Amino acid sequence: MRSTWTLIDQPAPYRHTNRKAIAPKDDFTADVIGGLMKRPKRLASKYLYDAPGSALFDRICQLPEYYLTRTELAIMRANVIEIVQEIGPDSLIVELGSGSSMKTRLLLDHLDRPRAYMPIDISREHVLETAAQLRTEYPAIDIEPIVDDFCNSSFDSARFSGERVCVYFPGSTIGNFERAEALRLLRKIGDWCGDQGGLLIGFDLQKDVSVLEAAYNDADGVTAAFSLNLLQRMNREASANFHLQNFRHVAFYHSPAERIEIYIESHREQHVQIGDSTISFAAGERIHTEYSHKYTVAGFAAMAEKAGLAMKRVWTDDREYFAVMYLENKRAD
Ligand code: TRP
Repeated sequence: MRSTWTLIDQPAPYRHTNRKAIAPKDDFTADVIGGLMKRPKRLASKYLYDAPGSALFDRICQLPEYYLTRTELAIMRANVIEIVQEIGPDSLIVELGSGSSMKTRLLLDHLDRPRAYMPIDISREHVLETAAQLRTEYPAIDIEPIVDDFCNSSFDSARFSGERVCVYFPGSTIGNFERAEALRLLRKIGDWCGDQGGLLIGFDLQKDVSVLEAAYNDADGVTAAFSLNLLQRMNREASANFHLQNFRHVAFYHSPAERIEIYIESHREQHVQIGDSTISFAAGERIHTEYSHKYTVAGFAAMAEKAGLAMKRVWTDDREYFAVMYLENKRAD
């Protein structure tokens, strides 16, 4: 076990001005204007998760329609003994997007002598708070948070070398990547795992379209509020003047692409100011914010196979709504 606790952090030029922001304010403004000038318009989904957005997302996870979180947790609870057996003893647990602490705690409660737990997240406050909390609950486990973007090509994985790495990637976050990007990320994860480690990943399964669509269009409008909070964020942080009543949240299953597509749609023709720029919307024009791809177990295993990862075990719930899979690099032999 390592004796010291270290915070590994990327150089952050904006640190002295704004500790709260994921990125410097000017980057946010420039980035959203750039995205809104594209055809079709789009905004990076990472911007959904500011403090109010994160609070709304926590509420989404509790919604009766949003089966994902509770189903994944139930699968983990029911199979944790088998899961930690696959991971094995003395592993370094690297969690991508340090989201749900419940699932993490379940692993930390059962793992055999974990070398350390490394949550990686671009949201500084979130990952540091989670880490501080876990350090008090698990004083015997080395908790090493990393504030970084694991998708970035500059992400430094040297910090994993020499360890048996288990990458934990829960929450169906892999579904938010387009297929080519998902494949690229799985390849990278395979490199981090080497020939000793593995990947434990949670992903959402294809199912009745009405169940899928309800999960992204809840009756109480929490998901709509989460979506439209991005407009409020631009009003707050990028000097924009979006009128929220002129827009609506749209989410539907696009069967050919096997994914939920999420947009913010303009009710009518209108012009919006953001900083010094004017963005024009046609009636019915949409801003794309997120995809959520839905897989089959076989389809996911086939994609992973292309990335050099072989499925070792898979666990699902009775309804087969969600899957948790353990994979290892394919052996040369
Ligand atoms: N990872 C979540 C998912 O794909 C993200 C999500 C849930 C989401 N609901 C949303 C993103 C609504 C944007 C809008 O299920």
